[in-house]
Amino acid sequence: MNKKIIFIKKNINTFKKQSISVDGDKSLSIRLILLSSLSDGKCNVKNLLMSEDVLSAVSIMKKLGIKIRIKKKVCEIIGRGLFGLKFKKNLILDSGNSGTTARLICGLLSDAKYWVKITGDNSLKKRDMRRIIKPLKLFGTKFKNNRTKLPIYLRGPEILKPIKYFEKLGSAQCKSALMIAALKTSGKTELRCVPSRNHTEIIFKKVLNLPIKVKKKKNYDFISILGNKKLKKFNYKVPGDISSASFFIVLTLLSKNNFLRIKNVNINPSRIGILNILNLMGAKIKILNKKLYKGEPVADIFVKSTKNLKAIKLKPKLNSFAIDEFLLIFLVSSVSKGVSTFRNLSELNKKESKRLDWGIKILRMIGIKVKTLKNNGVKIWGQPNLKLKKEYVIKNFSRDHRVFMTAAIAALALGGSWKIYDRDCFKTSFPKFITTLNLLGAKINEKNYSSRY
Ligand code: S3P
Repeated sequence: MNKKIIFIKKNINTFKKQSISVDGDKSLSIRLILLSSLSDGKCNVKNLLMSEDVLSAVSIMKKLGIKIRIKKKVCEIIGRGLFGLKFKKNLILDSGNSGTTARLICGLLSDAKYWVKITGDNSLKKRDMRRIIKPLKLFGTKFKNNRTKLPIYLRGPEILKPIKYFEKLGSAQCKSALMIAALKTSGKTELRCVPSRNHTEIIFKKVLNLPIKVKKKKNYDFISILGNKKLKKFNYKVPGDISSASFFIVLTLLSKNNFLRIKNVNINPSRIGILNILNLMGAKIKILNKKLYKGEPVADIFVKSTKNLKAIKLKPKLNSFAIDEFLLIFLVSSVSKGVSTFRNLSELNKKESKRLDWGIKILRMIGIKVKTLKNNGVKIWGQPNLKLKKEYVIKNFSRDHRVFMTAAIAALALGGSWKIYDRDCFKTSFPKFITTLNLLGAKINEKNYSSRY
């Protein structure tokens, strides 16, 4: 199979458009596919993200007997109720590149009638599954062979019991897997969690009408859920993904004399760490037209090109609210005045690629001084007048969509001649990425290369 490589130089001056929209939110899209399947009837989801990660979730639910039809921009899912999934012997479910699908699906299969094999692509096979295996075993779910990475095999016990558990990683994937398993018990599950994105909590309460309580106490979220309740069927319109919007926010910020409005983006406080961080660094990003949609705040984001960006020393407790945006934050730090410091970023090296290592590698490649600190921290010496002239090649990055898209933004914002491999990987999360760049006026050249490079 031939694959594509892209060539980018700085070629974007005044944007051809001042208003764009981005694809639907990935976290919400995957959750809505999984949870509508357990609901009590026909659900419609508009503006579902049609990315590879979400399509992996769709094909898994179809294998579990759920009818899903995607027509134009509406996805129709016929829920079969909390215990209605069709389990068969020798079922193999492939999550592709999607960590969220792999982890949440384990919660959904916590009561599986037969052994189910869950697998994924080469990148996902390297990621840790212990974080969900350990607590799911407390519910009674069984796992074969003590495996901690995909493929794993799991099945349910006779009766799933509610649990009490402390989720220390600040992982929304882990928390959500446990919340879904909790639904299948006949009792009260109590979770103490380091805060992370809270879409599952909001969907449980505002969309599915489930008895869930969330209390914030001493830097933790205490979540209690009563299981064995019906999930109400629903209609939903997915807002834009702040993680996708962030590439265009940073491009605008680092370009000259541009402004951009990104319409209808989810601005859940647990996701907008990037906006808060960029504003602390001197960006003046505005939130306009704010509305509340089924518990999720949605708004337009307005950003202008900004000179005089300044370094930041980020408090680690804010990391999880910008967990998918650190490559972009590093990029902005590399052209900000002063020395930026980030700490406790071990989770970054557990993503689709070793993202902390990739961030450091890209910055060093473009001549930025970076020092690694104890406990997965970094110090970045910014160069406000950085103008790149050399050739830069980005390859062998485990097809990590966020590495690919960050490198493309670096090329358009900072100059140089960039050659970036694995062109199609952005389809994992943001299929409209290249067409949106083209809309703004970027010219991107592409060429095929043989699959062995
Ligand atoms: C996600 C949670 C995050 C994030 C991922 C999506 C989710 O992972 O990195 O892209 O939808 O719950 P962790 O919760 O494991 O940090």
